[in-house]
Amino acid sequence: MGPSLLRRVALCVVLACACQFYHDREHRRAMAVTLSTSSRWIVDEAGRRVKLACVNWPSHLEPVVTEGLGRQPVDVISKKVVAMGFNCVRLTYPIALATNASLSSLTVLQSLRAHGLAETVAAVEVNNLGFLDLTLVDAFRAVVDKLGENDVMVILDNHVSKPGWCCSDDDGNGFFGDQYFDPDVWVQGLSNMATLFADVPNVVGMSLRNELRGPRQNTEDWYR
Ligand SMILES: *[C@@H]1O[C@H](CO)[C@@H](O)[C@H](O)[C@H]1NC(C)=O
Repeated sequence: MGPSLLRRVALCVVLACACQFYHDREHRRAMAVTLSTSSRWIVDEAGRRVKLACVNWPSHLEPVVTEGLGRQPVDVISKKVVAMGFNCVRLTYPIALATNASLSSLTVLQSLRAHGLAETVAAVEVNNLGFLDLTLVDAFRAVVDKLGENDVMVILDNHVSKPGWCCSDDDGNGFFGDQYFDPDVWVQGLSNMATLFADVPNVVGMSLRNELRGPRQNTEDWYR
């Protein structure tokens, strides 16, 4: 972990309570920024307060393709995010995207087909043609970049380890040591994502895991 990752990790701690609407358009469009904390506030390089208003956008489901690419061009969706008053996307991903090369190197086309989503393939061809031949990890990165072009900040959000719907108590993704939730693989995945996006200016933080839960959770591990 380099200092910049640590700073981002520290930032994550405050993100959970920081997502709220902010009405000053000037401040809302805060891009390519390095954020840090000052007491309870998130601030930019000039020490000005930055309020994150994030919308959730899932990429953690079985195909590991950002949802909606068959509906609208990513650029249009990104502009819609801004038009609705958000300045940030909480973009979800499964750890497998960052640790399983035979998954992350599949193309969008291959992954959609493997899940029987022929209609979605046709729809992505119409709305986001260039995406079909990108690998899953490059497609994820392309979404991040397009958001950046539209001045939208991104929080990389680890939702699950094994791609799929989140969350139930017994899906094997809920707590450290669950069937698919190997803590070492998880840390490796977070680290790989941090490395992959270290130089991407609109990526301002990471949230480490969505909704820890399930029968294995216990106070000892929670507060370790
Ligand atoms: C990696 O991904 C491939 C392709 O989705 C899958 O078949 C395989 O089970 C995964 N490996 C692990 C260790 O999860």
